[in-house]
Amino acid sequence: MTIARPIRKAVFPVAGLGTRFLPATKAVPKEMLTVVDRPVIQHVVDEARAAGIEHFIFVTGRNKAVIEDHFDSQFELERTLAERGKQKELAHLMSELPAAGQTSFTRQQAPLGLGHAVWCARDIVGNEPFALLLPDMLHHAPKPCMTEMIEAYAEHGGNHIAVAPVPDDQAHQYGIVGVTDAQAKISRVTGMVEKPKPGTAPSNLHITGRYILQPEIFELLARGQRGAGGEIQITDSMIELQKTQPFHAVRFDGTIYDCGSKIGFLMANVAYALARDDIGPELRAGLKGLI
Ligand code: G1P
Repeated sequence: MTIARPIRKAVFPVAGLGTRFLPATKAVPKEMLTVVDRPVIQHVVDEARAAGIEHFIFVTGRNKAVIEDHFDSQFELERTLAERGKQKELAHLMSELPAAGQTSFTRQQAPLGLGHAVWCARDIVGNEPFALLLPDMLHHAPKPCMTEMIEAYAEHGGNHIAVAPVPDDQAHQYGIVGVTDAQAKISRVTGMVEKPKPGTAPSNLHITGRYILQPEIFELLARGQRGAGGEIQITDSMIELQKTQPFHAVRFDGTIYDCGSKIGFLMANVAYALARDDIGPELRAGLKGLI
């Protein structure tokens, strides 16, 4: 049996314009909007780091430089915190700072689709399997989704996609997979379709935005073939890759908040805040008063 090569690198596509959140996203990238007191992108990087990822690759675009600053040291702030004796805050900031050389940033120069964004990271990923995390989708669960996926990968190798049930009337907004056993925690993918037309979805399991992919995906993405919405779709290259490599679906049983939508973003804020010991009880009481 071949031993699966470890997953060391994760790609975060963060080039999207965030038009659904204008005017909030006019000068601030949507990934920097906060869920409680952490930017959305920080939550997703936390998930990757908890799963053992060592190198964080961001595919950015114009007006996204603040994401790079967020994952760098902030000398004036650190010095001021030290001078004021705010050791706890300083230690917290420093503990989250990626080590030198653990981050990479590249730019997607034109909005040609998710597949194209991932392809932009090809040289930084190199010839090894990697994780892909879509920052819009926050996965809330006692055990982080990417940790479950890396465990599944260690057992089965190949490619992995996190999936979860979605109501029929929303299936056309996502990538949908067919699987050998829809109830199993891990099953084989039998087919995939990006944004199926109403009534044509092979199952009710949607691709939730967490992937482990083999590097051969880049050769397929390089073809630049356009799919749903006229964009270069990652799903279309996965369909091609599945002809030669196994794909597994890892069923995610937690709650997913689509922070690309206003309701998803607001719900994430409420849920993450309610789960916190320091502010949860007060918020709960406050919400009861509001409703
Ligand atoms: C992308 C993927 C899709 C997946 C979705 C999850 O679509 O192409 O397969 O289900 O993310 O959010 P997008 O949201 O970019 O339209």
